[in-house]
Amino acid sequence: MTAPTSDRASDFASLAAEDRVAARLYTDPEIFDWEMEKIFYSTWVWVAHESEIPDAGSFKMSHIGLQPVIVNRDRKGNFNVLLNRCRHRGASVCEVPKGKANGFTCPYHSWSYSLEGNLRGIPYPDGYEGVAEKRDLPLQRLRVESYNGLIFATFRTDIEPLADFLGDAKLWIDRFMKQGAGFPVKVQGEHKFRFDGNWKIQLENTTDGYHFPIVHRSWMASVDAETADMLSFMTDEEAVTHALGNGHSVAIMVPEHVDLEDDDGTEELQERFRPIIDELSETMPPEQVRRIVRSMHGAGYNLNLFPNLSLSMSFFRVLRPISVNETEIQHMALGLDGGPESVNRERLRIHEHFQGPFGFGTSDDSEAWDRVQRGAVANPEMPILVNRGLGREVAADEGWKTSHVTDETGMRESYAMWKRMMNDDN
Ligand code: FES
Ligand code: FE
Repeated sequence: MTAPTSDRASDFASLAAEDRVAARLYTDPEIFDWEMEKIFYSTWVWVAHESEIPDAGSFKMSHIGLQPVIVNRDRKGNFNVLLNRCRHRGASVCEVPKGKANGFTCPYHSWSYSLEGNLRGIPYPDGYEGVAEKRDLPLQRLRVESYNGLIFATFRTDIEPLADFLGDAKLWIDRFMKQGAGFPVKVQGEHKFRFDGNWKIQLENTTDGYHFPIVHRSWMASVDAETADMLSFMTDEEAVTHALGNGHSVAIMVPEHVDLEDDDGTEELQERFRPIIDELSETMPPEQVRRIVRSMHGAGYNLNLFPNLSLSMSFFRVLRPISVNETEIQHMALGLDGGPESVNRERLRIHEHFQGPFGFGTSDDSEAWDRVQRGAVANPEMPILVNRGLGREVAADEGWKTSHVTDETGMRESYAMWKRMMNDDN
């Protein structure tokens, strides 16, 4: 793309104030292009979970911004993230969402590449004698690092290590993964949908506790009293959102579930999961049964990892910008790798009820997001407020900005990072 002048870049950044952002942030294609460049192609972006590529040769297709990539595990056990673009004339070399392979062969003229991206074969090679060498034409390899099963990649070789970028969010990733209750967390299944709106509308939503009991009230009316009670966070003082830095935030919706090592909080779940408890108790100690049952609904919080991943209760939510006014969302239901079948089945049912293709949550949310986009298109000059709870934010012991879970602390954290990156000279 043609880079905007530095004045123009700071114009973009000035559209985000502490308490409001301009609706143009959702509608201006020039801003969208600059976001791809300065955010998606300039930081760590989540591409896969380890359980999706369990064996040597396992691969999946993913995206970084608009760029298609292949994520795979090679025979040495290393993760590779390769730009899905043949070095001959640029065709994608893989269109299979997930699978197992020894390498990738471009369908156009059959240039073939190894799992590491090295160019292995060119048909009728004599035409290239003295013109091109295979060693000079690998698939573009991205920098890859992982943390607690989460695999990230970046086009940049000069930015901080992943662990530094995640910073205080690491603590919350670690807690989130405890929902495996002794088993590693695995992706059980996924579904995708698109909504007619800008990617930041989803980015804002993950730690927006304010919308939950309102937009999702039909879902709240459909669940058992214990689950509804568990989610009655509007009145719970301990239900807070922490701004964790670097755009990351966490919204704690079920406070007693925060530390899954705690002893409390299972009683109300006992009756609902009685058949599973009875089954597990035949082979497992009571302590492990308790941990598995406690984590049935997931971690009890939503963690927003800027810019594209949410670890949310018992699933991952991945956002992928398609254009300034279209975004793809992927929901990945989580289960226990090697864990009891009955537990994984029940976790899937819970997931489907809210986030599944026919669940309440997906349709509720996407309807609201579409409306936000339509309003922004109609009047890009009317600001979007992100000021709820600004007057009651406090500094937590850990140094995080903290406010009630229904406040917009997480959105302000995302926009502070957005502003920094959009204005960054690098
Ligand atoms: Fe891939 Fe020609 S474009 S081999
Ligand atoms: Fe929602």
